[in-house]
Amino acid sequence: MLEQIDRYIEDLCTPEPDAFKQAVRDAVAAGLPEIQVSPNEGKLLYLLAKIAGARRILEIGLLGGYSTLWLASALPADGQLITLELDEDYATVARRNIERAGLLAKVSIRVGPAADALEKMVQQSEPAFDLVFIDADKDGYPVYLEYALRLTRPGSLILADNVIRGGRVTDPRNTDLSVRAIREFNQKLASHPGLETILLPIMRHDVDGLAIARVKE
Ligand code: SAH
Ligand code: DHB
Ligand code: MG
Repeated sequence: MLEQIDRYIEDLCTPEPDAFKQAVRDAVAAGLPEIQVSPNEGKLLYLLAKIAGARRILEIGLLGGYSTLWLASALPADGQLITLELDEDYATVARRNIERAGLLAKVSIRVGPAADALEKMVQQSEPAFDLVFIDADKDGYPVYLEYALRLTRPGSLILADNVIRGGRVTDPRNTDLSVRAIREFNQKLASHPGLETILLPIMRHDVDGLAIARVKE
């Protein structure tokens, strides 16, 4: 049923450019894990970036560039998206996908551990991002949140994928490292006095979620 509803919404609301569909096909053919956001979640990211009027976006976790395509296509002509990826081979696949979609001029890919790139951005006083999308290793989420808070301004959005994990985050008996890290992340995001936050369930084969937080004025 979840999948049927997701498909219904997708058919109605989420027509995709061919280059987006091809990006997923190429990523799968290259052996990348099929863990990109769904088309409907991609459309939601796109809408949030548009609604926020984002001109500068930071993405943590590129994979084959599928979510990047949605976010970058929400940017104005002079907008910029910086995306961080650990795996050089994934980044090569993603670069080709982003180029084919005509979006490479707006996207800059930084290969290496995200925490290193984030620390460098803080050290170099990188101008604030209007939107940060966290979607890399789940264990890193609490650290990525600290950096996101330092790299944003009042009114910016901090988004994070995979915050529900099929409901595993709600089960206190589940002590997996990544589930504990997401639980800690959600707790920090929800209780931070400088943020206003909601966790939005996202359905596909299973229920996961997108965290949406806005930095208060
Ligand atoms: N945002 C993508 C999916 C990202 S999957 C989409 O929806 O299309 C998570 C990605 O994070 C993987 O590509 C993985 O290689 C990357 N990753 C894992 N650990 C990382 C780290 N420490 N630094 C940067 N990227 C990392
Ligand atoms: C998985 C899903 C994701 O969206 C992600 O970013 C990382 C991992 C997963 O289902 O394992
Ligand atoms: Mg994800």
